[in-house]
Amino acid sequence: MYAPDGGRSRFALRGSLSFVVGMWVSLAAPSALAQPDRIAQGEKIATGGTTQGAPACAGCHGAKGEGNADFPRLAGAGQAYLQAQLDAFASGARKNSIMQQFAQKLTPDERAAVVAYYSQLPAPGTAKPAAQVATPAELGAWLATRGRWTDQLPACAQCHGADGGGVGSQFPPLAGLSSNYIQEQLKAWKTDFRPPGPLGLMPAVAAKLSDADAAAVAQYYAALLTAIPAPAPQGAVNAAPKK
Ligand code: HEC
Ligand code: HEC
Repeated sequence: MYAPDGGRSRFALRGSLSFVVGMWVSLAAPSALAQPDRIAQGEKIATGGTTQGAPACAGCHGAKGEGNADFPRLAGAGQAYLQAQLDAFASGARKNSIMQQFAQKLTPDERAAVVAYYSQLPAPGTAKPAAQVATPAELGAWLATRGRWTDQLPACAQCHGADGGGVGSQFPPLAGLSSNYIQEQLKAWKTDFRPPGPLGLMPAVAAKLSDADAAAVAQYYAALLTAIPAPAPQGAVNAAPKK
């Protein structure tokens, strides 16, 4: 038996110790942070940057990660995809003079947080699935929705979704990317400049696209962007007023 008082203070001490340990663990290990907390931490980085000098991502990638003509969209891309890209920038496996230095300024925990934030923002959708409208004369739409079986080139839509909105955690959205960015990425895979990604799927696809094919399909996905409504305001985390 112990005195109620002693028991309380022992409990209080244990409680505060585990609080301190919990804090430490959550700072050290990404997996220790509950998902809503991680998303909130990610939103802070996205909109305000970090004290270690990583800038606000929103400054380039858009207030809601929607992207623009110069910077790719991040909103709604799968968690595994975004994490792999940020890690690749940080390690230098994916080369870009701007993003490499920013990714290096984020700790692994901060990278996981900002990825958690962007991956839960709404992915783009399109009003009409383009599969219904393509004819062989429309090269971009045809490649996107039908591929070119004589070349064993699958339709982009098979992996990136009928509306180009991305599929699962690994296949990123294409709708919402600029034509220029898409063409640069395809070229980067052709020239071994960008790491191959899962199963080397994209280098195999890119190798089958001529410059004219790449331009047509890139324009197709860039034009799809205009059919996408602005991302709707999301739940509690994103509803907080911005200054
Ligand atoms: C000064 C502008 C700028 C800022 C600020 C910026 N980025 Fe980027 N980001 C870029 C550019 C440019 C690219 C395209 C790189 C390329 O062509 O490979 C990019 C690409 C990315 C990609 C790859 C997207 C994809 O679809 O593969 C991710 C992920 C990313 N940025 C995350 C972030 C995060 C997280 C932050 C904030 C910590 C951030 N960026 C801040 C310019 C910026
Ligand atoms: C067999 C599946 C598959 C097909 C078909 C496919 N892709 Fe991809 N694509 C991927 C995967 C997987 C990734 C992610 C690569 C990574 O993680 O680096 C990707 C990434 C991309 C990206 C990079 C997006 C970004 O945000 O940086 C572009 C651009 C792209 N694909 C264009 C296309 C185009 C255009 C076609 C059709 C001509 C196509 N893809 C067909 C699997 C596919």
